[in-house]
Amino acid sequence: MRLPATGTIARADGERDVQGYRPDSYGDGFADVYDDWYGDLPGLHDTVRTVHRLAAGGPILELGCGTGRLAVPLAHLGAEVHGLDASAAMLDRLRAKPGGDRVTVHAGDMAEVEVGAAGPFTVVFIAFNTLFNLPSEDLQRRCFDRVARHLAPGGCFVVECFVPGDPPETVRDAVEVHTLDAARVVLRISRQDPDASTLSGQHVEFTEAGGVRLRPWHLRYGTPEDLDRFAAAAGMHLEERWADWTGRPFDDESTAHVSMYRAGPAPRPAE
Ligand SMILES: C[S@@+](CC[C@H](N)C(=O)[O-])C[C@H]1O[C@@H](n2cnc3c(N)ncnc32)[C@H](O)[C@@H]1O
Repeated sequence: MRLPATGTIARADGERDVQGYRPDSYGDGFADVYDDWYGDLPGLHDTVRTVHRLAAGGPILELGCGTGRLAVPLAHLGAEVHGLDASAAMLDRLRAKPGGDRVTVHAGDMAEVEVGAAGPFTVVFIAFNTLFNLPSEDLQRRCFDRVARHLAPGGCFVVECFVPGDPPETVRDAVEVHTLDAARVVLRISRQDPDASTLSGQHVEFTEAGGVRLRPWHLRYGTPEDLDRFAAAAGMHLEERWADWTGRPFDDESTAHVSMYRAGPAPRPAE
């Protein structure tokens, strides 16, 4: 199972209060190290190229755009790119990048997808397991619902997530070394609750000068079939599912999926 490393937008109903974890907890915790740790993840070029192709010149919205790892290169290709994120610290990093001003940013919660008068979008996408940052099935379902309202006719929603193990991994508590050098140790400490389909963790950083720094993260994971149900309830259908952004076929062995949902009901099979 591939996990992202690991922010304040208040919710009136308190539904987000998972052990004190809020929509901006991840982003505000990781903004200063995000590009160092994840800036060169493989697949960036394929992700950008695929989203750009699907948009075919139309406007694009990335949910959970973070520091603009994907949104900024997309905008460099000439696309109209919007990025939504709950973390002010992440969005500050995006704006500070060369070309960051080409991305229109929206501070907000991806369970609500408020983008003012922007849209509708030809492509809305959410990469790198970011959907699972929404801490409940209801909020993930709501995200699909809100996205459907922001899609242009015939537009698509593309989601990249890991595939949970079946049965779920039995390791409940784990400590791994993330970084170890003469000046710094970062431990990745995590706990899985297979009944709730959640993974919670901290990247704990120890430095002589800075002491201890906690970077919390929390994921509520679901199966590809769960996401298909959310899409259907929101009036979308699965058009294609790949194992990665190169379009490699998805199969039972795939550990991740890139799923493309098209607005509207599934076409009837030819008679
Ligand atoms: C794993 S990072 C991915 C960033 C970027 N998409 C990338 O691939 O590099 C997840 C991002 O989602 C944002 N995020 C988490 N929960 C959110 C929420 N409820 N609403 C909006 N953004 C959220 C975080 O602030 C963070 O920037």
